[in-house]
Amino acid sequence: MKPKSRKLRSTAWFGKSDRDGFAHRSWMKNQGLPNHLFDGRPVIGICNTWSELTPCNSHLRKVAEHVKRGVYEMGGFPLEFPVMSLGESNLRPTAMLFRNLASMDVEESIRGNPIDGVVLLAGCDKTTPSLLMGAASCDLPTIVVSGGPMLNGRFRGELMGSGTDMWRYSEDVRAGKMSRAEFESAEAAMSRSAGSCMTMGTASTMASMVEALGVALPSNAAIPAVDARRYSLAHIAGRRIVEMVREDLRLSKILTRSAFENAIRINGAIGGSTNAVVHLLAIAGRIGVELTLDDWDRLGRDIPCLVNLMPSGEFLMEEFYYAGGLPAVMRELGKRLDRKALTVTGRSVGENVADAACYDRRVIFPVAKPFKPHGGIAVLRGNLVPDGAVIKPSAATPGLMRHRGRAVVFEDIEHYKARVDDPKLDVDPSCVLVLKNCGPRGYPGMAEVGNMALPVKILKQGVRDMVRISDARMSGTAYGTVVLHSAPEAAAGGPLALVRDGDMIELDVAKRRLHLDVSAGELEKRRAKWRPPGPPKGGYQRLYVNHVLQADKGCDLDFLVGKRGAEIPRESH
Ligand code: FES
Repeated sequence: MKPKSRKLRSTAWFGKSDRDGFAHRSWMKNQGLPNHLFDGRPVIGICNTWSELTPCNSHLRKVAEHVKRGVYEMGGFPLEFPVMSLGESNLRPTAMLFRNLASMDVEESIRGNPIDGVVLLAGCDKTTPSLLMGAASCDLPTIVVSGGPMLNGRFRGELMGSGTDMWRYSEDVRAGKMSRAEFESAEAAMSRSAGSCMTMGTASTMASMVEALGVALPSNAAIPAVDARRYSLAHIAGRRIVEMVREDLRLSKILTRSAFENAIRINGAIGGSTNAVVHLLAIAGRIGVELTLDDWDRLGRDIPCLVNLMPSGEFLMEEFYYAGGLPAVMRELGKRLDRKALTVTGRSVGENVADAACYDRRVIFPVAKPFKPHGGIAVLRGNLVPDGAVIKPSAATPGLMRHRGRAVVFEDIEHYKARVDDPKLDVDPSCVLVLKNCGPRGYPGMAEVGNMALPVKILKQGVRDMVRISDARMSGTAYGTVVLHSAPEAAAGGPLALVRDGDMIELDVAKRRLHLDVSAGELEKRRAKWRPPGPPKGGYQRLYVNHVLQADKGCDLDFLVGKRGAEIPRESH
């Protein structure tokens, strides 16, 4: 059995004529794989996050079948393999705790197996970054195929967006404006097909980010999960990955500094999730591109929000696809993007979107008359957040973007839950809610609790937004004047740990300032009394807490940063 090309990694397994080659081929043949598949053709790993516990990815076995068709057509040999699947709606204490663990699974599964190129099948929030982080550390030819968003939710004749309307309705229940029975009947109305959240939440944002980075085919982000064109896209991705292996078009040729700059600008234009900040920083760290939190502010500052999608707007991903999807947005951004950046199609960004059209100006606005003037994510600094914090202005209340208020402090999420609806809680709409110990180390895993619900006595006044500050993240489907990702976090001894009830806090988004109006001397006194939380009992959580980087660095584990390549490991027998 003579391999056609010695360049392929897989020939180190399947191309050998000795006992080891026998072993690698023989056991594979128990799956009914005929001899000719081991003739040195490209082996394509289909890295699948299918799981019934990750409902947003539960259709990915079917997507994989269509990828395989394309791989076979081009003379490749597809092999599907499972990796840890992170379901946002079920996994506790938070899927983010396991993003880095899943990325290790992906990296070692790719490197340790006879794989020449990879198709990453992702959908739910953390599955996209975890797969791309792991693949980036290997740097083989790679394409991402997203599972696609669910069909629009519909409840009582109106659009119902994943997450976004859940937050809204749950506040209505707490304010006494909606019954429990009505709330329950909305459950099935929201999630009525396969796919991921159909708002511009984190899943749709990350599907858009991989398209913006050039590691997914055009239109990857928006084609609904159950639309036949999703399966066509998977089929074409299967064809293309075989060609990419032959062209040696590796991730590092696509994931360049320009690609990340494009993605940050596009995140502004789509009103994307704040979670993209930590994920792109982590992916950049894996592939070896220097990217900082300040890049997010600088590159997104003059980018208008063009897309009228929940949570910042009114429509959903289905309309976004029908309106032209991400290619229409990318074309609209014109010279704001590096149009020469290379993509998995083998063509540049500019070539990919040259003919993209917008079919609905209610959904995708022109740059000259944008949906909102500022789409980018603002990075705040000040004595409260020396290493930065983020806010999404397009999802915030304009009147609160400059605000001074009295702090109402919750020491952790349990303290918040126990206290927030206490009638005796001294709070009014001008106060600033502060939540501590929900960051990477503190939770641990940096939970999506930063958009803490308002106290019921405030909701009953008809107030729907207040300034909120934490070291947590926020669901991409959520909204409000919410300052997130405060770094250093409270559990790492950041100034957030020192805030007390009654302190005055000043937020000025235009000036990118977040200030705790307490003297340096008083803060020193408080610091002398501060004690860090105890370590987790053990296991992965201990490893995570000991090694996780802060939010401004992307929350990767320090020893996972970087590209380790896909050198063929020594034989296993
Ligand atoms: Fe999976 Fe939103 S919960 S995409």
